[in-house]
Order: sequence, then structure tokens, then C-alpha cells
Amino acid sequence: MGKYRGNIYLIGFMGCGKSTVSNFLSLKLGIPEIDTDIRIEEEQGLEIADIFDKYGEDYFRGLENKLLEKMMGEKNCIVACGGGMAVRDDNVVMMKKSGIVVMLTAEAKTIYNRVSHSDSRPLLKNHMDIEYIKELMSKRIDAYTKAADIIIRTDEFNPREIAEQISRRIMRA
Ligand code: S3P
Repeated sequence: MGKYRGNIYLIGFMGCGKSTVSNFLSLKLGIPEIDTDIRIEEEQGLEIADIFDKYGEDYFRGLENKLLEKMMGEKNCIVACGGGMAVRDDNVVMMKKSGIVVMLTAEAKTIYNRVSHSDSRPLLKNHMDIEYIKELMSKRIDAYTKAADIIIRTDEFNPREIAEQISRRIMRA
């Protein structure tokens, strides 16, 4: 993969494909990946929804922040971030210091189609509708865009194609 040796942080709204794209990108580039949600679940021995229920959102955000601090010590690793990771400025500072930030985007309707079958996302638990997704997206879009070095639209592409696009763009970045 060109000369790029930093981490590759995948950010963006829930359901924009960060985890799936990370799998493909990891295979394509032959570098390891970590999914922050999965890592937190493993370390806590609890699912994300249960962490929110038991300890609240702020506690979860603290875990994300600590995990990112650890990831700064890694090199050449793909980090599929939970959808709220890039909302905190201090998280973005850590990402920028240690890698390149790739934002995946999707229309609210696409997101809805991808996530509505699942109840694993506490923030959408009682709001599984396109209007709410749009509202939350509009609150976050500036933070995501400001953090992003590269922005990739996912609506009409499959994960393999998106991984190809990211790999091309990183080599040019
Ligand atoms: C969240 C997104 C989720 C997970 C948690 C909170 C968010 O990850 O971290 O439910 O605040 O957007 P995905 O983006 O992988 O769904």
C-alpha cells in the first residue's frame, strides 16, 4: 500500500458501513483492523446496549476515548469507529495525530434500510425512523466533515467497491 503507514480511521453515522468496509479494506491492504464497538464489548463483557443501560452514554464515551488513546500507539491499523467517536473534538485530535480519517456517508433512507432490522443501537432504540435519523445526522454532520481527510459516499456501492475507493484515495492522499 503506497507509503502510507499511519492508522486508517473509518468514521460516520451508524449504518454507513464502517465495520463491513473495514473487513474488506483489511483484506485488501493486508493490515489488521479493530472495530471499537467490538473491542469495547469484549473488554467489558457486555453488549453496547447493555453498557448504555447499565452505566449510561457518558460512561460509554469515556471507554471510546480511552480505547482511542490506546490505538494511537498502533501503526498501520484500520480502526472502524463507533458512530459517535468523531463527535468529540479530543477524539478527532487523536485520530489526526495518528492517522488518516475517512468519513463514510449515506442518505438517511439508506441508513434506515441498513439498521432498521437491528435493535443493537441504543440511540435509535425508540426512534427507529427516517426523520429521527435525519435529525441526529444533521447534528453530527459538521463534526464528521471537519474531522474527515477523505469523504466517500456509500449509497450506491458495495463494501468491496468502497474499500477499493478508499485504498486508491489513501495512496493519493
Ligand atoms: C453510536 C454508534 C454505534 C455504537 C453506539 C453509539 C453512535 O456504532 O458505538 O451504539 O453514537 O452513533 P455504529 O456506528 O457502528 O453503529
